[in-house]
Formats: sequence, C-alpha cells, structure tokens
Amino acid sequence: MSNLLLLNGPNLGILGRRQPEIYGTATLRDIEEAMAARVAARGWKIVSVQRESEGELIHAIQDNYDSVGAVVNPGALMVAGWSLRDALANYPRPWIEVHLSNVWARESFRHESVISPLAAGIIAGLGPLGYELAADALMKTVTAP
Ligand code: DQA
Repeated sequence: MSNLLLLNGPNLGILGRRQPEIYGTATLRDIEEAMAARVAARGWKIVSVQRESEGELIHAIQDNYDSVGAVVNPGALMVAGWSLRDALANYPRPWIEVHLSNVWARESFRHESVISPLAAGIIAGLGPLGYELAADALMKTVTAP
C-alpha cells in the first residue's frame, strides 16, 4: 500500500482546542480520518506526523522519501523554517502546503512562506477541507501506484 505523508508543524496537535475561532473545532484526528477515508479508494494510506520542533519534522521527511506525496502544514515555520525548506527541497515527490486559516487575511508576519515556492500548490483558508482537497489534488496528479 502507498503512503501519503501528512505533516503538521508546531501547535497543530492541539487543533480543536487551539483558538477555535480561527482554527475551528476539528481535531487533528478528525482531519486524519477524513483524509484516510478520501485516499482509501486509491489504495493509499495516511502516515501522519505532527511535531513541535523543526528537526523532528525534518526527520519525518527524510524517513518518508518512499511516500507518494505529502500534505504539509508547517504552522509558524512557514515564516522562517529554512531547514524545513531545505528538507522539502530534497523530498522527491510532489507536496501541497495547507493552512487552515487564510494567512493573507491575518497579521502581516504570516504573509510570507519560505516553503511556498517549492510547493506543487497551496491551499489556505478552507479549514480542514483544505487537507482533503490537497489529498484530492495529489490523487489526481500523482502518477504512482
Ligand atoms: C497555520 C497558520 C500559521 O500562520 C500559524 O502559525 C499556524 C497555523 C494555519 O493552518 O492556518 O500554526 O499554518
């Protein structure tokens, strides 16, 4: 079975109880389950990794070069996660950047992402649906088992 890597950065493990007025009430588990249901038809399985530190996220990328693609919410590492960017530059498969909130409608420090130039696509502001749409996009575009 092929693996789709779901990578979530700092503070995304507490979704559901993290500023629900911004990030909603869905938990990371809810998101994982919705994505798993979505990709099952393609015979894919979700490998979900959420870490608070950049180094551990990098390890997860390096450990999953054999995945078919990835959905990445870097959290605040979008702003200055240069090592994460370098790790993603060496990730051999397409990946999509997702943000639950519309970062461009928020504080100006959230308007820059150091990883966006490397992403196959970017989805922001659609809440948990964004993760499912990213999975859909990868299922449509990735030529892999
Ligand atoms: C976020 C947006 C980031 O600016 C923030 O630091 C997060 C979550 C989002 O999903 O909307 O941690 O990536």
